[in-house]
This record gives sequence, C-alpha cells and structure tokens, in this order.
Amino acid sequence: MSDTVDQVLRLEGLRKSYNLGLPNEVEVLHGLDLTIGRNDFAALIGPSGSGKSTLLNVIGLLDRPTSGELFLLGQATSGMDDTGRTALRGSSIGFVFQFHHLINAFTAIDNVLMPWMLTQGKPDRRARDKARTLLAAVGLEKYADTKPNQLSGGQQQRIAIARALITEPALLLADEPTGNLDSQTAAEVFELFRRVQQERGCAVLLVTHDPRLSATCDRTINLVDGRIVSDTVNNRDEAVIPH
Ligand SMILES: Nc1ncnc2c1ncn2[C@@H]1O[C@H](COP(=O)(O)OP(=O)(O)O)[C@@H](O)[C@H]1O
Ligand SMILES: [Mg+2]
Repeated sequence: MSDTVDQVLRLEGLRKSYNLGLPNEVEVLHGLDLTIGRNDFAALIGPSGSGKSTLLNVIGLLDRPTSGELFLLGQATSGMDDTGRTALRGSSIGFVFQFHHLINAFTAIDNVLMPWMLTQGKPDRRARDKARTLLAAVGLEKYADTKPNQLSGGQQQRIAIARALITEPALLLADEPTGNLDSQTAAEVFELFRRVQQERGCAVLLVTHDPRLSATCDRTINLVDGRIVSDTVNNRDEAVIPH
C-alpha cells in the first residue's frame, strides 16, 4: 500500500447510479476501492457495459459519484463545487478519448493549446513553445501547422495525447484510445503512453479491450458488473508488445 503522498488517486466506497430517483434508476458502480500511485501505468479492462467509461468519467471529474469519496492528489472532492472541480480537473487531469475530438478548423498546435486557452486565455510565447515541444515528443513537430483531418488516425491520436499533456497533469486518463486504430498503430500509441509516463512522471490509467495491450502495462484492473474483480501486477517479462 503506497503512502498517501505517493497516491495520485484514491477511491473509497465509490458508487455511481444513473437516473437517480427515477423509475429507471440503475447503480453502475457498486462501491469501489482503488488507489493509483504517482507512477502507475495501469490498464482498466472488462466487458462492454461493465462501467469502465463511467468510472473514468467520475475519476476525471467529468461526472459526480453518487456516494463514496474520491481523493485526487490527497484532496477529497465530494464537498467541492463545480468551480473547484473544474479547476482541479484542469490542473491535474489529462483526458484522451477513443475518438480524438480534435477541431479540424484548427491546426495541430492550436488543438494542443486548447486546454491551456480554456484555462488561461490567449497563449503566450512560452505556451506555444511548450506545445511545439509536446508535438515533437509525440513525433509530430513537422505537422504543427497542419489540420487534423489531413493526418492519419494514429497521428490524430498523438495530437490528442499532446493536448492532454499541455497542462502537465499528474494523471492521464484514456478511454479506449486505440479502439479505432489498427493493431500496429495501437501498439505504437501504447508505447507512446509508456514513454509519456516514464519521461513526464505522470500516472496513466488506460481502458483497453485488447489483452495484448493491457499486458504491456504494469498493472491490470478488471472491472466486471461495476465491481473490481481483480487488480494484478503484470509480469512484463511475459508481455509481448504486438507488432
Ligand atoms: N448516461 C447514462 N444513463 C443511463 N445509463 C447509462 C449511462 N451511461 C452508461 N449507462 C449504463 O451504465 C452501464 C455501464 O456503461 P459504461 O460505463 O459505458 O460501460 P463500459 O465503458 O464498460 O462499456 C451500462 O449498462 C450503460 O448502459
Ligand atoms: Mg466505455
């Protein structure tokens, strides 16, 4: 069990219901306890409908739990108002989705700068330099001024990863980030997440359906019907990175 200062995230008895108080109320997460350390590289797996996206949205402060507590960087979030949650999300969480949600009217570099602009306004020289450095880190420095729809699916997902890193998050969340990529490109994107975790010192929690990809992570958390049924350290000597 890691010390509190080493924890980026802790869940205690976290529950989530949809349609609360309505006839179609349904509890999707049934009291989860989970700790993510500052350098964890963890896969979240489980059947479709088991609650993975719900859990990621709650962890990413995009949605509220129904009960239980979620600590981010040691701070309890249940008593926070929306302003406090938005500020904490902006400063500590990066999010990558299956579909990259890039804006095709903007260049790659302006897409990377988007979270910065939302929180801090017009980017200054330093912000633009940082965005360029991030594009270089994901292998796209040549494409800074290119629109996303002129790039491949893998390149677009790399822009989304650079965008998620512009605010230097302590926790990078990714919901099936390789779900619509071919297996070679998916493996490359996973290697990029690994590099990001090692070089930027952030924790990474990724949802994937692909057991070959989850095996390349340090830890596999298995969610079934809204309960964590296993949480294991992977023996990476046995992991085969698919190509
Ligand atoms: N906004 C919503 N309203 C009602 N039910 C929902 C909503 N979002 C998801 N669900 C239900 O919650 C369950 C878990 O969904 P989800 O978190 O998307 O699972 P996964 O990502 O593992 O496929 C499913 O039964 C789904 O139908
Ligand atoms: Mg999902």
